[in-house]
Amino acid sequence: MEIIIKKDYHRMCGEAVKLIHQSWQKKKDLVLGLATGKTPLGVYEGLIRLYREREMDFSEISAFSLDEYLGIPDEHPQSFAFYMQQNFFQHVNFKNENIFRLDGLPDDIEAHCYEYEEKIRMTGGIDIQILGIGRNGHIGFNEPSSSLSSRTRVKTLTQETIAANTPFFLDKKQIPRYCLTMGIGTIMESRMILLLASGQEKSHAIRQSIEGPITATIPASILQLHVQAKIIVDEEAAGQLERKSYYRWVYEHKDNVDDFLADKKTK
Ligand code: GLP
Repeated sequence: MEIIIKKDYHRMCGEAVKLIHQSWQKKKDLVLGLATGKTPLGVYEGLIRLYREREMDFSEISAFSLDEYLGIPDEHPQSFAFYMQQNFFQHVNFKNENIFRLDGLPDDIEAHCYEYEEKIRMTGGIDIQILGIGRNGHIGFNEPSSSLSSRTRVKTLTQETIAANTPFFLDKKQIPRYCLTMGIGTIMESRMILLLASGQEKSHAIRQSIEGPITATIPASILQLHVQAKIIVDEEAAGQLERKSYYRWVYEHKDNVDDFLADKKTK
């Protein structure tokens, strides 16, 4: 796990954009896993900017959505499909056939989840999964107590999530009670994971995920077992980390290994 602490939200998103851009330069048909929420918005803005500046092209990139509410159509303004369309897809040149979403109104939930996993496999697996984090340490919609090896499936939303969603639904009958989410096992198969967290309200979850034990009670703590997980946080989200100065030290020195060795060899 690599802990990257940036001064503010803007720089935090810039780091994620840089890593995605570097990966794309090496692999034009990158497979991305994409999260919703307010945290990754700056990442999508940064990628859109690269596209407009002709620094990046999305025509060969595939995208998989991380989760979706069950029971609302794609065109509903609160659906994650709508969010992705509005905040990212419509601004860049993804090919429609390369965009994969979980369907909020599937005919057969189990078959749909199974097929989604198959599609991820068929594209060769997710290269970079972008994640936010819930205040309780959840990733995707894998709430505390989710199996750490779970696959894409239906989940029951917590009472807190339902309460938080209530203001966004004019028609209260439409407030989702269930969702579909990639499982923790699915997420862990991604080659690289970029988890972003901003603000003091995420600092406790970040501390527990990075410095606490691996536990289903804090789903993001499983990332301690991933060899390419990068936790990118701003100062506020890093606020409760005990080993903050060590993480900074490692980040500042990690690119100097070759120079260090070359220097030793010439002596
Ligand atoms: C929801 C989403 C998560 C997201 C989380 C945090 O639960 N399912 O994918 O990470 O919210 O959202 P935000 O970034 O708005 O704090």
